[in-house]
Amino acid sequence: MTMREKIEAAAAPYPDNRSAIMPALLIAQKEYGYLPGPVLEEVANILGIERIWVYELATFYTLFRTEPVGIFHLQLCDNVSCMLRRSEELLNHMEAVLGIKKGSTTPDGLFTLSTVECLGACEMAPVMQVGDDYYGDLDIARIDTLLNELRASVLQATGADRAAANLSE
Ligand code: FES
Repeated sequence: MTMREKIEAAAAPYPDNRSAIMPALLIAQKEYGYLPGPVLEEVANILGIERIWVYELATFYTLFRTEPVGIFHLQLCDNVSCMLRRSEELLNHMEAVLGIKKGSTTPDGLFTLSTVECLGACEMAPVMQVGDDYYGDLDIARIDTLLNELRASVLQATGADRAAANLSE
């Protein structure tokens, strides 16, 4: 199914295509990895609606990315519950160990570090979202373990790809 077909199918139940902007943006983001201007325009064209309506939603919600991100997008909540449970300390720590400031990506393209508003999981503050997964009750030791595990998962995947390539030679 093409992206257009997926967006049209997602919009079909709605009497007004404007109601389908969120699902359409999720589909486009899955397709392209992020949502630059031309993709927002494409979504607006498919839905047959004003570009500004699509742009407004894409830039309002932190789940949408208008800039390219690393393989792992670390989205640390810095809202009240998480802030009271030292999310700032975690942010400072990640900036130090990754060697980047929030809003940027490590030179190897592995990690993008961002802060976001409440993730709706305050009961396990401080919380960070990475991809579709939530990690809660975080402290510095857990952050270090998580970053190592994420790095290792890429190395494993890369190693498996190399092994598969060697086998097929
Ligand atoms: Fe962080 Fe709600 S304040 S998840």
